[in-house]
Amino acid sequence: MPTPAAEQIPDTPFYRLGGHATMEAICNRFYDLMESEPEYAELRAMHAADLAPMRQSLPLFLAGWSGGPRDWFAANPGRCMMSIHKPFTIGPDVAGQWAEAMKRAIADVAPEPADMARAMGEVLENLARGMARP
Ligand code: HEM
Repeated sequence: MPTPAAEQIPDTPFYRLGGHATMEAICNRFYDLMESEPEYAELRAMHAADLAPMRQSLPLFLAGWSGGPRDWFAANPGRCMMSIHKPFTIGPDVAGQWAEAMKRAIADVAPEPADMARAMGEVLENLARGMARP
């Protein structure tokens, strides 16, 4: 996809954080942490053995969600994040693991601009914790 001229770039979190390269870096760090850190073991165990499809899918979802290209939404018409997760039993602990790993991934690879990075972590944390059922 051609890069828009500077004056045509929308002022959204996606572009302010650095576009696709940033979303990919965040998600790769997130899944690296999930695979390597014992505190995320329960979260890791819920996912398929091969995380390659998630390493592709999550950055595309985050791109559209944060005001960038909406390829994921075009490829998944009518699918919402809450219903996608309905089949899984998500308790507060595992939702917390997701939120902590994501905030750590953002802090590690995309800390600037700081207000935007912090806001993205907080909103994703709320989304993850909102998926939990006691
Ligand atoms: C609250 C804790 C969460 C848990 C335990 C969880 C778990 C899962 C699992 C087990 C899958 C199936 C993929 C696989 O088996 O490898 C999945 C898919 C997915 N999750 Fe989550 N998830 C959580 C939160 C989130 C949040 C907050 C988002 C978005 C910001 C998200 C985005 C996705 C996406 C995009 C997919 C793939 C959907 C697709 O393309 O088919 N997840 N999740």
